[in-house]
Amino acid sequence: MLTDVIEARITRLLESSRVRDMVVEEMRRLMNERPPDVTPLDYCTAVALYYLRELCRQTVGQCKTGEKVQSEKTSPEPSMKEILNALLSWSQYELLGSNLQMVKALGSAIAVRDTGTSEHNLKVTLYAARLAEKARIDEKRLQSLIKGSFLHDIGKIGISDATLLKSNKLTDIEFKQMQSHVNRGEQIIKGVVWLEDARDIILYHHERWDGRGYPEGLKKNDIPVNARIFMIVDVFDALTSDRPYKKAAPFKSAMAQMESQSGIHFDPRYFELFADIAGDLYSRYARCSVENLEREVFDLIGEYFYLDPRDYHLADLFDSIRESPDTI
Ligand SMILES: [Fe+2]
Repeated sequence: MLTDVIEARITRLLESSRVRDMVVEEMRRLMNERPPDVTPLDYCTAVALYYLRELCRQTVGQCKTGEKVQSEKTSPEPSMKEILNALLSWSQYELLGSNLQMVKALGSAIAVRDTGTSEHNLKVTLYAARLAEKARIDEKRLQSLIKGSFLHDIGKIGISDATLLKSNKLTDIEFKQMQSHVNRGEQIIKGVVWLEDARDIILYHHERWDGRGYPEGLKKNDIPVNARIFMIVDVFDALTSDRPYKKAAPFKSAMAQMESQSGIHFDPRYFELFADIAGDLYSRYARCSVENLEREVFDLIGEYFYLDPRDYHLADLFDSIRESPDTI
């Protein structure tokens, strides 16, 4: 039953190949050595992938050099440590994918309630990442930026529809309620270790460079970098997008409004970088369909979280299959 599942997977990858039989045979033998705390399916998958990778590497090597490859191993049999490493990599890869899907779903849920569509979250994530790249933000911080962009308004989940969806001017009390979304958001992610680095954006994306923002009235460089970057793109998308109660501002008009707030609302250094790329971002993403935005975000996540298997521990396996599908 179990081996059928794995066999089906491998068959899909390598139809009519003798490699499949070899992998399955080895896998059956290694099943006897499965650690008790690892599920049979995970174990089988890891072992199968490991073998497949090894065999692909050797086969491709033979085809390229025309002779038998000198492998470091005298036998293709991996040690238990190597199998467990492969297993761990695969588990982490799947867990990361699940976590990111959860983050994206949560962010989209609140964006749809707030604006009627998930476009806002997708666009600000793309805008923020491109601005961060332009600013040469390091990769770790960029990962946090992506998570924070998805979740920035998660605290709005606790705001009543009457306030959240009101199209007229908010009363002072309603305005205070609305402002509370940043603290509510912080509370929601508190204790979720994997989301802790999204806190800077969730809590501080309404701070202002001049110190007149909320919730703490932080000023200038006291505002975390990711929040300074994010607030620029959040305002840009709000201005250039249709909402139930307003039409999108034309690009030039939006940029003129924002320009007047550089050094007041926005960090002038990041705004200057944004002004350089805003036209390009606008033409690439502002009128994109949700499907295309989803695709762009998918690629972005793959790039920064190594979700593309070709970039991860299974790199050789997938590259081998891709490069030499007919020779394996
Ligand atoms: Fe917000």
